[in-house]
Amino acid sequence: MTNDIDWVALKAAAVAARAGAYVPYSKFPVGVAALTSDGRIISGCNVENASYGLTLCAECGLVSSLHATGGGTLVAFTCVDGNDNVLMPCGRCRQLLFEHSAPGMVLETVSGFRTIEEVLPDAFGPRVLDAYSATASSAPSAP
Ligand code: THU
Repeated sequence: MTNDIDWVALKAAAVAARAGAYVPYSKFPVGVAALTSDGRIISGCNVENASYGLTLCAECGLVSSLHATGGGTLVAFTCVDGNDNVLMPCGRCRQLLFEHSAPGMVLETVSGFRTIEEVLPDAFGPRVLDAYSATASSAPSAP
């Protein structure tokens, strides 16, 4: 599976996207790239804000790009820091990626290639909500 993926091209796309990073506060540029289920390579960079908590991680741009350019799901993902080293997505971004991932999406990580299920075990996601809404007892009782 991972052998079929052009990780060199993905990393190059992440590095190219990183050039657009807006990081006046942390000075920590991040670039990400992913392969989509229909073969597109998409990317993103982090965009910070003077109201620090509003910072958009690079993965936010990636997910926006996924949907803005045709949708689908993420099949493979990589993330680089300012020194071209592989960076692990933060916890929030693992959740963000999970929502849009194909089952078994592969990430290039600091400990080798790992699936989204491995880096976010027992994830909360759309299937949990689907299962809940399918149970008759989940409907709130009338007052
Ligand atoms: N950052 C990302 O863009 N993605 C991550 O997964 C980790 C953190 C950014 C946010 C902030 O602009 C900078 O890295 C330092 O935290």
